[in-house]
Amino acid sequence: MKKKLIAGNWKMNGGREANEALVRAIVAGLSAQASSCDAAVCVPAPYLAQVQALCQGSGLAWGAQDVSEHEQGAYTGEVSARMLRDFGTRYAIVGHSERRQYHGESDALVSHKARAALAQGITPIVCVGETLAEREAGQTEAVVKRQLAAVIHDNGHCISEIVVAYEPVWAIGTGKTATPEQAQQVHAVLRAQLKAATAHSDRICLLYGGSMNAANAASLLAQPDIDGGLIGGASLKAADFLQIIASARAA
Ligand code: PGA
Repeated sequence: MKKKLIAGNWKMNGGREANEALVRAIVAGLSAQASSCDAAVCVPAPYLAQVQALCQGSGLAWGAQDVSEHEQGAYTGEVSARMLRDFGTRYAIVGHSERRQYHGESDALVSHKARAALAQGITPIVCVGETLAEREAGQTEAVVKRQLAAVIHDNGHCISEIVVAYEPVWAIGTGKTATPEQAQQVHAVLRAQLKAATAHSDRICLLYGGSMNAANAASLLAQPDIDGGLIGGASLKAADFLQIIASARAA
């Protein structure tokens, strides 16, 4: 059976001192647990070296929150997958709704970013999800399928190497979580889409994200097609993050 994955998304939070305390507490908590669940923190790029040093040899992997679609060159401000790899980065979030919304990232750009990560052996955590208006208009399935289809189209040959995160935009940072049934319904749609794309779809981790916390994680993770979580706010508190990991181990 594939392991569950709990990944923290720190977003634009943290600082040298706070990072050290947080990562040390998570690593210490993890070493007390058996490793039947994968765990990672996706941190702001300037802190990758710090987090690498703190996590090396522990059960906690680390990732980035974005990656350039380009290999190298005149792209001021961008960070390439190659550079991420230099810091042992295991994951890169791509297509987070905050990037789609505030930085105008298109489905095509997100799929190119996934390809750039895969080319360097970095696992892209591909985020998909509908806005509240789209949900209310009955477009949830169509939206997530369109977003995932772009990534499948560009990365068909290695699609079983990706992680997918379903994050309903209306649930992110709002305290409004999708019900386990709502989340499972969308996960089942995504699972079917991946199954049609690869014979190895059962390897692909499908995460739920959007106000997942220590209190609601167990019921979400009990759903058959929810293989883990992408955790924002609750990943900034070691005790909460560790509790979510413990729920994933028990699920
Ligand atoms: P949240 O964020 O857990 O704070 O809702 C999740 C995410 O944006 O990845």
